[in-house]
Amino acid sequence: MNERIEQSKEMNDTGKNMLENVMVISAFNITKTYEPGTKALDNVSVSIQKEKITVILGPSGSGKTTLLNILALLDKPDSGKITLEGKDISMLSEKEAAIIRNKMFGFVFQFFHLIPELTVEENIMVPLMIRNPYNSFNEHRERVYNLLADFHLENKKNQYPNKLSGGEKQKVSICRSLAGNPNIIFADEPTGNLDRESASELISIIEHLNRTKGKTFVIATHNENFLKIATNVVYLSGGKIINRE
Ligand SMILES: Nc1ncnc2c1ncn2[C@@H]1O[C@H](COP(=O)(O)OP(=O)(O)O)[C@@H](O)[C@H]1O
Ligand SMILES: [Mg+2]
Repeated sequence: MNERIEQSKEMNDTGKNMLENVMVISAFNITKTYEPGTKALDNVSVSIQKEKITVILGPSGSGKTTLLNILALLDKPDSGKITLEGKDISMLSEKEAAIIRNKMFGFVFQFFHLIPELTVEENIMVPLMIRNPYNSFNEHRERVYNLLADFHLENKKNQYPNKLSGGEKQKVSICRSLAGNPNIIFADEPTGNLDRESASELISIIEHLNRTKGKTFVIATHNENFLKIATNVVYLSGGKIINRE
């Protein structure tokens, strides 16, 4: 009898471990309210799979940014649970969340968030210096140059962001997000400020990074072209998941 219990416990553990290997972040029954009476997120559960592209799709105001920010530990839900590689991280302090974000996550935003007073090279290097303070300046610079070369932006390294096109700015943001070699990249409306051609180039870049480097992406967007590269899609409407694929 005891042996049977042990065996079934072992099987449960194996199942749990297998799940932990494929699910990086899971959110369970997440609720978030900003204004009394309207729920930005209403009992949302979602899992982010390792090395996949998860797209959160929905119209403006449906709760995409709220959900992305909660999954990325930028914001806290009112209720519900978040796990990272199987561990409950719902109760982390802001400082502990910042350490995880810094070590594991990269971010890409609709409005790029590049620092206008810094050159392209400096914009990518600053977060790298914060993340790896003990590496030498030359090591940082080599990393930045390699990234810029990957995106054919070597000749832009001394430019200031206001001299770049939207597409170039977003490629620099991608370089910045990749600099610290994060496991997961969160992108909030990454094509929201791009023309059609730059948007389609960015979508190809994301697919390439996923396929060749195994980067996990979580993308909040209303751009249905992301469906072409999505491995998982979560459809949001009015703070609720209305469909999954
Ligand atoms: N900081 C905030 N304060 C008050 N209401 C907010 C705030 N952020 C978002 N909301 C509201 O929450 C809902 C979901 O917003 P959001 O997550 O930004 O949606 P989406 O990214 O899909 O456009 C919307 O009704 C929005 O007005
Ligand atoms: Mg949004």
